[in-house]
Amino acid sequence: MSNPFHASFGVSPPLLVGREQVIQDFEEALEDGPGSAGRATLYTGARGSGKTVMLNAIEGRARERGWLVVSETATAGFIDRITTQHLPRLLRDFDPAAVRRRLTGVTAPLRIGGVTWETIEAHVIQAGLRNQIEVLTDLLVDHDTGILITLDEIHRNQIADLRELATTVQHAFREGRELAFVGAGLAAGISDIVNDDVLTFLRRAERHTLGTVSRSEVERAFREPIEAAGRKIGSAALSTMVDGADGYPFLLQLVGAQTWRLHPQEQVITEDDATEGVRRALRRLGTLVHEPALSDVSAIDKMFLMAMARDDGPSTMGDVQRRMDVVANYASQYRLRLIAAELIHSTRRGYVDFSLPYLREHLREQAAVDS
Ligand SMILES: Nc1ncnc2c1ncn2[C@@H]1O[C@H](COP(=O)(O)OP(=O)(O)OP(=O)(O)O)[C@@H](O)[C@H]1O
Ligand SMILES: [Mg+2]
Repeated sequence: MSNPFHASFGVSPPLLVGREQVIQDFEEALEDGPGSAGRATLYTGARGSGKTVMLNAIEGRARERGWLVVSETATAGFIDRITTQHLPRLLRDFDPAAVRRRLTGVTAPLRIGGVTWETIEAHVIQAGLRNQIEVLTDLLVDHDTGILITLDEIHRNQIADLRELATTVQHAFREGRELAFVGAGLAAGISDIVNDDVLTFLRRAERHTLGTVSRSEVERAFREPIEAAGRKIGSAALSTMVDGADGYPFLLQLVGAQTWRLHPQEQVITEDDATEGVRRALRRLGTLVHEPALSDVSAIDKMFLMAMARDDGPSTMGDVQRRMDVVANYASQYRLRLIAAELIHSTRRGYVDFSLPYLREHLREQAAVDS
């Protein structure tokens, strides 16, 4: 029986759980029309919290409603890709004569008669982002739908392209066009750019933090795909898997995949399978999540994290500061940096805790190896 779970970044899970409200908010924004706050939305969350698959999910919902979707990642040249590939491709599906009629208003007039799509496309590309969106949203008015643009991995590195996109989206919103924008990124990347002057519409965008998923949701995310794929699991084994996943979406898939593959031909997933599956999943978590997450932090950030790892639960800032042997002001600067990097969060006044599951254990192991 084939494994329903895949622990791969960006790969949609067999069952997406715990995000119904966020998806519903997006659908309402589409229904509510131009001017609805959710027409500009941002998803943030730690590595592996499910940002990319949420974009996949809402893209699916938009398509079901007949919306056209431009799905991009904020790497170098994304505006170019939108204007030379995505939008021309979407325009190609329309009556070329209709596209040509719209375009003549925005670029040099095309000679009528015997015009192939290639010659029209040259004009489409030349029209640029703003005009292409205008042509496309005009054409879509007859279909009662619009365009959704999604942008994953938003980061300050692409600030120039982001500004161009922002200006266009803002303009389209002002004109009441049927356009929606949904972006995703780590909180640090997002807060860097929402403070940019040109990107004011992003500051007003609806923000959703994709956090951990509740126990009962994690249970469903295991049980339903297991049963749909033709196997069974008892409550003790299920409970072991749920404990192991710790509410964290990526780990959920990792535990599922590792547990399943132990005895894929057996009808029942046993408690032993679940225990071994969790053990294997946690061993992989270090290379797949912790190490990449720690690769950008400075030596002092790391010292802060190591100081926290000595506690079994949330740490007080007083203890961290003492263990680091620094002044309070200094420690609190690092606290802010690590919160922005989504490695830690504040649990209550004066306390911090790790945001990634098993990061504490990972750091302790590292400390043991180092010493
Ligand atoms: N709500 C969910 N329910 C079940 N599985 C989920 C959920 N969200 C994400 N996953 C699974 O978790 C894994 C990570 O998801 P995804 O790649 O979307 O994370 P991400 O936040 O985009 O990570 P990164 O910051 O590295 O880009 C995938 O295997 C995905 O199938
Ligand atoms: Mg992602």
